[in-house]
Amino acid sequence: HRHLLGISQLNQYEIVDLLDRAEAMIPISRQERKILPTLSGKTQINLFFENSTRTQSSFEIAGKRLGAQVTNMSVKTSSVAKGETLIDTAATLNAMRPDVIIVRHGASGAVELLSQKVGCSVINAGDGAHEHPTQALLDALTMRQHKGRLAGLTVAICGDIANSRVARSNLLLLGAMQARTRVVAPRTLLPRGIEMLATEVFTDMRQGLEGADVVMMLRLQHERANGRMIPSVREYYHFYGLDEEKLSFAKPDAIVMHPGPMNRGVEIDPAIADGPRSVITEQVEMGVAVRMAVLDTLLADREAQP
Ligand code: CP
Repeated sequence: HRHLLGISQLNQYEIVDLLDRAEAMIPISRQERKILPTLSGKTQINLFFENSTRTQSSFEIAGKRLGAQVTNMSVKTSSVAKGETLIDTAATLNAMRPDVIIVRHGASGAVELLSQKVGCSVINAGDGAHEHPTQALLDALTMRQHKGRLAGLTVAICGDIANSRVARSNLLLLGAMQARTRVVAPRTLLPRGIEMLATEVFTDMRQGLEGADVVMMLRLQHERANGRMIPSVREYYHFYGLDEEKLSFAKPDAIVMHPGPMNRGVEIDPAIADGPRSVITEQVEMGVAVRMAVLDTLLADREAQP
């Protein structure tokens, strides 16, 4: 069974292929055009151990638009709450013969572990601070739609890099596609070894945004902070919050991205989030197309199609 566990498993040709397939899915994801339900008769289980609005619902919608039967496991009301382990939960769901399990978990590596215990495809919907591959793919598709390419773009990823699987997957993808990547954050929110993943590292927002084509803001992840917090939210906003003045250092046609959920007034000025350069809702839209492409690539029976 084929899995999507991380961007690290993909080369640039596989990334381009997934983005091309996702682009072709856009009219279908918007329900402007119908296609053969390529996942008809397939069973998809969404297993989210961490909260989600965008990822879980767009995987559900993507599966349904391709004809799959989708079950959402509600972890909070499941037997996980009675102490059932990840592996026992996986074995239990596996016995019901799903074709794919979409997993989000708070521990890095938990999704890969689960993939070794089941007899179906597994897609990583975010594991700890490790990877969130479909987010990086939908971000890349959004950039490509606006800029026409990824190679040579300067992408500044700003804020809580240390706790961010979104940053990691984006850096891997953009690196593979020959974009110039910058991370911009206070030292306390930069993980060890980040200079191996990013082209440039900045602690000053204005320097980091200078001449950028894409400004990607990240949520300050209070739930993963482990006491390694920023001095105060007000101070964080002063130095690292994206406002009109800091954004003026990026290119005039720079787009502003945020994976969501946003902390308005913490990492981003609401006026920027809702402003003309923001592509934040478009990212959500591309999420359905990307997840349709990933599900179709992993699961569709090619031999059964004309
Ligand atoms: N961007 C993202 O993963 O959002 P959710 O946590 O709402 O799924």
